[in-house]
Amino acid sequence: MCGIAGYIGKNRACPILIDGLRRLEYRGYDSAGFALAEDGGVVILKAVGRVEELEKQVGERDFLGTAGIAHTRWATHGKPSKENAHPHVDCRQEIFLVHNGIIENYKELKESLKKRGHRFSSETDSEVIAHLIEEYYGEDSLEEAVRKALLKATGTYGIAVLSQREPNKIVAARKGSPLILGVGKDEFIIASDVAAIIRYTDRVVYLNDGEMVVIGRDGYEVSNLERTRIDKRVDRIDWSVEKAEKQGFAYFMLKEIFEQPEAIKNAIRGRVLSADGNVKLGGLDDVRERLREINRLVIVACGTAYHAGLVGKYMLEEYAGIRADIEYGSEFRYRKPILDSKTAVLAVSQSGETADTLAAVKEAKNKGALALGIVNAVGSTIARETDAGIYNHAGPEIGVASTKAFTSQLSILALLTVFLGRQREMSCVTGKRILNELAEIERHIKTILKQAKEIEKIARKYSGFNNFLYLGRKYNYPIALEGALKIKEIAYVHAEGYPFGEMKHGSIALIDENFPSIAIVTKDSVYEKTISGVQEIKARGGKIIAIATSGDKEIKKLVDDVIYIPKTLEMLTPMISVVPLQLLAYYFGVQKGLDVDKPRNLAKSVTVE
Ligand code: AGP
Repeated sequence: MCGIAGYIGKNRACPILIDGLRRLEYRGYDSAGFALAEDGGVVILKAVGRVEELEKQVGERDFLGTAGIAHTRWATHGKPSKENAHPHVDCRQEIFLVHNGIIENYKELKESLKKRGHRFSSETDSEVIAHLIEEYYGEDSLEEAVRKALLKATGTYGIAVLSQREPNKIVAARKGSPLILGVGKDEFIIASDVAAIIRYTDRVVYLNDGEMVVIGRDGYEVSNLERTRIDKRVDRIDWSVEKAEKQGFAYFMLKEIFEQPEAIKNAIRGRVLSADGNVKLGGLDDVRERLREINRLVIVACGTAYHAGLVGKYMLEEYAGIRADIEYGSEFRYRKPILDSKTAVLAVSQSGETADTLAAVKEAKNKGALALGIVNAVGSTIARETDAGIYNHAGPEIGVASTKAFTSQLSILALLTVFLGRQREMSCVTGKRILNELAEIERHIKTILKQAKEIEKIARKYSGFNNFLYLGRKYNYPIALEGALKIKEIAYVHAEGYPFGEMKHGSIALIDENFPSIAIVTKDSVYEKTISGVQEIKARGGKIIAIATSGDKEIKKLVDDVIYIPKTLEMLTPMISVVPLQLLAYYFGVQKGLDVDKPRNLAKSVTVE
């Protein structure tokens, strides 16, 4: 997910674009750049790192240009670098393009353009669009060339294009990535969301997928790719700037909880081979044959990523038939782990910078194991240190508490389970069943998110308690751990995640009317056993909030409160049973008046040991 902005109007574009990038930086911040129509030409500046690095390059230079486009990047293809930073240009350096999204057929397009003599300067998918436009930008207008180019691309885009030949025009278009036009007085701003617009105007035109807009100094025109003109309503924004960056959510954490359906869709996008009940994981192409030979997978991670890895262990053992161990990065590196060339060590890390996990990767490589990664931050240290890996494509996760990255990691672990399973004994039928159910998870999470208000009430009802036991069995045991971690780190409430069956071996001594439990009691292979645990708690006067499967009326008679979740495959249940626990932790923290985006003592990425 990247942030794009464009300006054309009566004022100098540079400060407006830089300010816009600052407000879009939560969408991506590994590199930034802009292109300004200046003195009959176009000036282009790029920088690696945050927008402030780009600002340093501007320094005291006084750009007078009043039309330009800009971009702050969250890398999806190609590491963060100056070459991969946007804007991208064509061979003649007369077309300048910024892009947010993923062009799925970029490899084929790039190959055919290279055969036609185009020279590329980046590893990105986005640059392909600039050269495609060049192909058509002969006698045609810029908008015609853009239109023809976009008809060749598959995937998602939000783009803005500037041309040296027609410097008083910006052409923008969207499909699957947001794009909004701010309509000011004698000025127009195009951006990924209102955060970059609201300071200049509250009048906006929301573009829809398949639409493009040609913006000039005197006005704009919206049409579709079939050249049909579209009349659009001008809306007014009633958000504050602060709220705009969170797209109306009070905190990034809540926004990212609600982004989970999108994050799962992006994790799966382009990776499912439905007809074969298999998956395509491009990042593992180089080690595909070696993966056939491995007889053990050691997953290393920390915190929430560790909990994802624990779910992965259960998935891989049950469905891929491969031995899978899970290790805390901070422990793994100080033991003498037995590893060999038949072992693959899989690092799971949102940031790709966690020192303990990185150290485990290095230890694995020292012992001749294959080092793999499931990482969200493209080009991060762990991503570069591993031999191969799979990117989440979840976009930046700003809230310190990991939410959308977690369910994205579970999506990727499910894909990896099918990948390794189909290399072994997993049947096509089983692969199809898993993948078909995985495709439904996005909808199931949306169903749970609709219960947010009810979950907020339950949080309020239990706000007086300072200790909780989180309990789950088998696939839900890691979710008990994750739920406990969330409420600890967000609301500073003490909680323990425990295997339900283990409770009677000690922690049940804690249970009384002042020590409630959160029990994950979904309809699965261990449901009856779990119900016994619920009865043990009730017999000791403990209050219970249950996470249960929709339609289960029995559980309602046994517990104090129930949050229902849709039925899915047992191995995929963690992807939905975690969502109520994320929301509970969020509401506990907010009701205590805490800054849930920046909890005390915590950092988003623990890059120290
Ligand atoms: C999760 O909510 C925490 N912020 C923390 O446990 C985090 O998951 C852990 O530090 C691992 O981070 P990583 O995924 O970036 O490696």
